[in-house]
Amino acid sequence: MTALTLDVRDASKRFGDGETAVLAVRGVSLAVAPGEVVLIMGPSGSGKTTLLSMMGALLKPTDGSIHLDGIAISELSEGQLPDIRLRQFGFIFQDFNLLSALSVLENVALVAELAGLRGRAARERARALLTDLGLGERLDFLPEKLSGGEKQRVAIARALINDPTLILADEPTANLDSKIGHEIMRLRRRIAKEQGRSVVIVSHDQRIRDIADRVLWLEDGAFRDIVTMATDPVCEMAVERERAVSAERDGETYFFCSRGCRDEFNEAGASRGDQQGHGLHQLVRLAATFLARRPTPATSRHEDRSTNGAPFGGADMVSDAGGGLGASIDRSPSARPTPGEAAMHGR
Ligand SMILES: Nc1ncnc2c1ncn2[C@@H]1O[C@H](COP(=O)(O)OP(=O)(O)OP(=O)(O)O)[C@@H](O)[C@H]1O
Ligand SMILES: [Mg+2]
Repeated sequence: MTALTLDVRDASKRFGDGETAVLAVRGVSLAVAPGEVVLIMGPSGSGKTTLLSMMGALLKPTDGSIHLDGIAISELSEGQLPDIRLRQFGFIFQDFNLLSALSVLENVALVAELAGLRGRAARERARALLTDLGLGERLDFLPEKLSGGEKQRVAIARALINDPTLILADEPTANLDSKIGHEIMRLRRRIAKEQGRSVVIVSHDQRIRDIADRVLWLEDGAFRDIVTMATDPVCEMAVERERAVSAERDGETYFFCSRGCRDEFNEAGASRGDQQGHGLHQLVRLAATFLARRPTPATSRHEDRSTNGAPFGGADMVSDAGGGLGASIDRSPSARPTPGEAAMHGR
């Protein structure tokens, strides 16, 4: 069995007391393996920063425990924490927190000195790391002279300089354009894989999903399943994007319940609605069409596929009042995205 780097068990965090208390994190459990890159997404205020701060021993959980490499960091005294933070964690914050009066080299070397390395050795290590990260020409620059991507790389160097066990990053690509943001995320993934360091990233950024080994969705202080739904444009079934077959048209990706639907879509071009379906889904479509023709407005079919402002957020095929075949399929819980999922897919 692989030893875990991070083991969060039933961690909760409450801010304040009485009526004004906020339960920001509610009994969250998470195990992170060495070298694993975990991405935590979720709406604003869902507890991501609070959870990350607890993982990094910046905040103590109100309940539950957090172990790093087998050590219960949630039980350590205030006196023990600064040293653990310095040696075991590499933090990367949204605004990078670089010291403006210090050069790039000094910003990074200082952190090594704080951990006990002598000045010269600290500078040498900082120089090597910064050069490795492509900043060899920027060592003597002040942070204000750097681009956003360069600042971010300095922040990464600073996070890595003491060989931390766990790298924690809060919204690291928020201020970067997509190309640089993605490059930096790939860099971080490489570091995780080559050096066996674990990385936990908090972000709203959909583009970095593909560099993560695991993506978790935090909502209202707890993890929820990520089931990303789309609507098959042919039979109008709700389908799970990750498992669906897909096709591109005019720069858009469409998802289908089956190859049959995809082929039909490809053959028929954009003129959906007039085509013949197949098997069960033909029946479903017929039922939906039938229900749509019934006179009461309550039974009309949802034509608006974007009830949440998301292109595939409103996965309902027929209204709740519809009954019959369409409604029985429609009512499966998986066909309904949670508000969190809808927010996640909103553009
Ligand atoms: N120090 C604090 N005191 C009181 N409430 C707090 C404190 N820190 C956070 N909260 C509350 O806890 C909840 C979670 O906040 P948190 O900062 O963890 O959210 P988040 O998911 O990081 O949001 P965002 O995506 O906007 O950064 C919020 O309701 C917030 O108001
Ligand atoms: Mg936050």
